[in-house]
Amino acid sequence: QIRVPTPQDILARKGGDPIVSLTAYTHPIAEMVDEACDFVLVGDSVGMVIHGLPSTLGVTMDMMVMHGQAVARALKHSMLVIDMPFGSYEEGPEQAFRNAARLMRETGCAAVKLEGGVEMAETIRFLTSRSIPVMAHVGLTPQAINTLGGYAVQGRGEDGDRVMADAKAVSDAGAFAVVLEKVPANLADGITAAIPIPTIGIGASAGCDGQILVVDDMLGLFTKFKPKFVKRYGTLFDDGKAAVEQYAKEVRARSFPAPEHIFADQAPEKKK
Ligand code: KIV
Ligand code: NA
Repeated sequence: QIRVPTPQDILARKGGDPIVSLTAYTHPIAEMVDEACDFVLVGDSVGMVIHGLPSTLGVTMDMMVMHGQAVARALKHSMLVIDMPFGSYEEGPEQAFRNAARLMRETGCAAVKLEGGVEMAETIRFLTSRSIPVMAHVGLTPQAINTLGGYAVQGRGEDGDRVMADAKAVSDAGAFAVVLEKVPANLADGITAAIPIPTIGIGASAGCDGQILVVDDMLGLFTKFKPKFVKRYGTLFDDGKAAVEQYAKEVRARSFPAPEHIFADQAPEKKK
């Protein structure tokens, strides 16, 4: 009997066995990652990874709904979390509720994720007190690229207090987990010890309560660039390219299709 974890189950994993997570944006990749993961995130990284956008800023609610539905149809083991895209929640709690409710209604996701710390606490409180589980995301928040000025490590030295305050604020506001992106390992360990909700690291620390990676990065399918925190466990882009080259060669040589791929004029007799 398979039981898909709930946000409460994820929260209860604080300090326990590490929580395993990857992103997914399409049905086949969601099927690939479902069994191994505790939750799957349809991240707004979909914009860069699948749509070739230069940042996550061009991602829309419609994109999140469509990819969310494709992934939802594949998941049997993992909990589904969907990112709220840039511009869909920052105006205020009501706007955030409207769009988060749409994601839940149209995809069946168990929770939404949004970026921001202290400044998003009021919105997180509004959602979580009205039946919408929220995963928070602090440290490097890619939707803030234009105000951060780049994808630099966040919270080094004195600046660590700011990220710590963000993590405490989202925890106090009712988030059931928080992603820590691209922060020093000692800060990630300090935050993990300081707050009662699971920390999900990406470019953070093995001491976090869980880890997440962008699936196309770890499969070696997205190869335009590789952040330092990504480990490539596969070579899918190279494997796919080699397969396509072999296909092209065989078409040109008329060795594909082979006899086993073609049809005779007469249907073969059915075996009794
Ligand atoms: O959009 C995304 O893929 C994310 C994860 C990297 C945490 O937010
Ligand atoms: Na994201």
